[in-house]
Amino acid sequence: MRTRRGALAATAGAASLALVLTACGRSGDGGSEEKPGDTKGATIGIAMPTKSSERWISDGANVVKDLRAKGYRTKLVYGEDDPDTQVAQLENLITQGVKGLIVAAIDNKSLANVLQEAADAHIPVIAYDRLILGTPNVDYYASFDNEKVGTLQGRYIVHRLGLDKGRKGPFSIELFAGSNDDNNTKYFFSGAMKVLRPYLDDKRLVVRSGQTALNQVTTLRWDGTTAQKRMEDILTSSYRSGRVDAVLSPYDGISIGVLSALKSDGYGSAAKPLPVVTGQDAELASVKSIIAGQQTQTVYKDLRKLADVAATMLDDSLKGKKPQVNDTKTYDNGVKVVPAHLLQPVSVDKSNYREVLVGGGYYTESELK
Ligand code: GAL
Repeated sequence: MRTRRGALAATAGAASLALVLTACGRSGDGGSEEKPGDTKGATIGIAMPTKSSERWISDGANVVKDLRAKGYRTKLVYGEDDPDTQVAQLENLITQGVKGLIVAAIDNKSLANVLQEAADAHIPVIAYDRLILGTPNVDYYASFDNEKVGTLQGRYIVHRLGLDKGRKGPFSIELFAGSNDDNNTKYFFSGAMKVLRPYLDDKRLVVRSGQTALNQVTTLRWDGTTAQKRMEDILTSSYRSGRVDAVLSPYDGISIGVLSALKSDGYGSAAKPLPVVTGQDAELASVKSIIAGQQTQTVYKDLRKLADVAATMLDDSLKGKKPQVNDTKTYDNGVKVVPAHLLQPVSVDKSNYREVLVGGGYYTESELK
């Protein structure tokens, strides 16, 4: 922080500009006396979690593009899925004098101190897709309806197994959830479980591993290899006989890991077909897998829209305009309810990928070959 203040003091102009931006930026309620700040040429810091997943690479590129189109400079960093690295990167960005931050947290609880530094420097902060917990210093949240993501996955399983048409099963299902340090994880899981619970209760769905509590099924850092290993263990311990009919997977990277374990165990033939496997993010590898008849479903979230929402929220904050939000109740971060703009997720499988993903310009037909 000292460095940041020193940098600001270096030029009185910069300092007063920062104060204008600040006054506007931190006032979520948009007081009427505010004057728009001059944001031309200001630099925005963007902290993304990892390059190991295609989606975050797109997110970074999309946010940069949108902010540049609004006249900002950008600094984009990736935290290699390491919370300490992300904190250090944010400290650097603050020291370098960024005027705003867009952050997709790696560990939702590790950012309180560094975001206090941001607040001290009057830097508005937008939480990007993942809510940041335990701090008052997060201004807005740009994401999707996360509970609905889980609902779509749960409903898809119920529909594909024919449970909604009266089939009795019993069908066997195994459950996977995301990283326990990602706030979204509990929303995805509870959205899915609300749909699945009645069928589990009346034993039309059975979890042979017995692992049904969230803390038994999380996957640290959403890591596909970790999920693969857990699926292998489950197949060994609980499916010596019989088959698994469905796997609730919250994210494409996990689905790919689960599918590797299944294929190594001989699934994927007429005698031993692959189970229904859900996913999320419509990552290229998973859409190809869906087309090839392996992964069954994914939940598409249009990242172009998410980037636009986040960039617009930050731009509005810096210019003293009140950002558009559509949810002021759901996302309590333990200190405050963070006003959110939530977009709608869409379930995609082999039957509608062309219409939704190609028709929507998200992928070209040739990218999916
Ligand atoms: C979540 C995000 C999901 C998925 C996952 C793993 O926070 O909402 O869409 O990307 O991270 O990266």
